[in-house]
Order: sequence, then C-alpha cells, then structure tokens
Amino acid sequence: TRKLILDLDTGIDDALALAYAIASPEVDLIGVICSYGNVVVAQAVANTQQLLALLGQPHVPVYAGAAHASTQSDFQVLPVSQQIHGRNGIGEVHLPAVTASTPQQSAVDFLIAATQQYGAELVVVPTGPLTNLAAAIQQYPSLVDQIGQITLMGGALTVPGNVSATTEANMAQDPEAAQVVFTSGAPLAMVGLDVTLRTLLTKQETARWRTLNTASGTAFAEMVDYYIKAYAVTSPDLGGCALHDPLAVGLAIDPSLAQWLALDLTVATTGATRGRTIGDLKRLTATPRTKVAVQVAATTYLRRFMQRLSCLFAQN
Ligand code: BDR
Ligand code: CA
Repeated sequence: TRKLILDLDTGIDDALALAYAIASPEVDLIGVICSYGNVVVAQAVANTQQLLALLGQPHVPVYAGAAHASTQSDFQVLPVSQQIHGRNGIGEVHLPAVTASTPQQSAVDFLIAATQQYGAELVVVPTGPLTNLAAAIQQYPSLVDQIGQITLMGGALTVPGNVSATTEANMAQDPEAAQVVFTSGAPLAMVGLDVTLRTLLTKQETARWRTLNTASGTAFAEMVDYYIKAYAVTSPDLGGCALHDPLAVGLAIDPSLAQWLALDLTVATTGATRGRTIGDLKRLTATPRTKVAVQVAATTYLRRFMQRLSCLFAQN
C-alpha cells in the first residue's frame, strides 16, 4: 500500500475526499496537512480532526499549514466559500469537539520528512490552495525528484473557471504558489474542472446514507445536502453538486478512470486571467512531467465512490 498525505482546506468536498481516502484499501493515510481556503486554517484543522474522529481514524495526525497565500499577509474567507460550504466549512453541521493536539512539526516539515522517508511510495493529494506544497518545494527542491506522485484538484484547461471566466477557486487563492508547483518538474496529475464537473452527487445518494442510521452517514448526508442546495443556487443547470476533491483522490488511486493529456502547464499570475492554468508552449520539446485529466469514467467512479463511502459510513 502506498502512503498518502492529503492537503485540505476542509470544506464539504474536502471532507468527502478524506472519507474516500479512509475507505480505500490501496492507500495508507499517514497524515493530513491543512491550509486556509474554504475556511481559515484553524477551522480546517478542527474540521479535519472532528471528521477523522467521526470516521474512526482519530490517530491520523493533522498539521496546520499556511494561514494565507504566499504573497499576502492575511486571509479572509470569501463570501462565495461561505455560501457553498457554510460558515464553518462543513455545511453548518456541528460535530463533537475533539481534544487531539496538533503535532509540533510544521506541515511543510512533515511533507519533506515523509518524502525523505517514503520517496516513490508517497502520494500527495492537495485539494486546496498550493501554498504548502510550493513552500515545501522551495525549502527542499529534491522533493520533486523523490516524491512518487502529486495528484491535485485545481485548475481548468478545456473549460471556464468557477470563480471567474478563466480561473478555478484553488488556483485563484495563490497563483504564485501554483506557478511554483506547476513549473517545478514534479510528477503532477491535474484533476481540474475539466473532469470534476462531470462527477455529480444528488439527494438520491445522500438519502441512502441517511438510511444507514449511523453518526457518519447522517452527518455526511446533512453536509452534502447543504452543498447540493448551494450548487442549486450557484450552478442551477448542473443537476447536482460536483465531487471535485474526492475525484482527485479517486484518480490518484486509480488513474485508469481518466484519460490524460501529457502537457506541462504554467499559471497566469497577472491580468484578468490571473490563476488560469495554461499549456506551456516553451516546454513542448521536453518530456512533460504533468498530465491533465480530460475525460473521466464518471459512472464507474460514482459507483465506486458510493460503494466505498456507504461501507465506511455503515461502520461509523
Ligand atoms: C475547489 O474549490 C473549493 O471550494 C473546493 O473544496 C474544491 O477544492 C473547487 O474549485
Ligand atoms: Ca478543497
């Protein structure tokens, strides 16, 4: 089993990514690092610790990472994030408080140490801003040659953005950090809006979780119903809520569920397209280190997603 680190800005689909990772026997979740994004970083840490306890994994360590973008000195949650994920990030669902202490080591140091320890066995899945990962690469450049795989949720290559016509939310938070990561030469797989808007959940699925009559089944049904309601307002034509972050975990575990385009990318850092992920012409001659998911076997993925989560929720 490969070792997995998630980098979350724990909102509702990040919570689903965490659940999918726990429910997947192919990977061993060795830790979670958090950042600002859908919520402030302290809230992301608290949400993650509470979700881990809810899902029967209270021993997984949670590290507090970046509190703001690499070029900023503070951070405020965007109104649109609150609208989609609720003020507490998990759809106004209140989980039991936990007393877990956060480790002494910083999120970036943990990421670097895990890379040194596990090398090619290590998979990292960031589903928020890329601030932590960029900092780790800048502090320890060998990370890009040693790490097994980075499969990130973010960006858009063939479709418009979701916070502006060009830009996806995780890229919008810290385009400079994203640019560091995309041009670092690390083995990257981008799971962007190109595919995540094709894997949707509806109230049919959350109704099934409710019938399990367990704490986790009920809590996740409530969270995702909140998310579905928000999507009905912001994206009325979609017909459900997008499984952005859990799809990144799904494709990290089983890349055969997608079709990939081998193409290095850069990230626009200025002008109206700031945060857009763009095919890098300068690198057409080199062997690309980045692959972009452009098609997804949505039905197969959704079936697996429901099987795994239903099984996990039935036991917790
Ligand atoms: C991404 O933005 C966040 O709000 C979600 O959690 C997801 O990671 C989608 O653009
Ligand atoms: Ca996220």
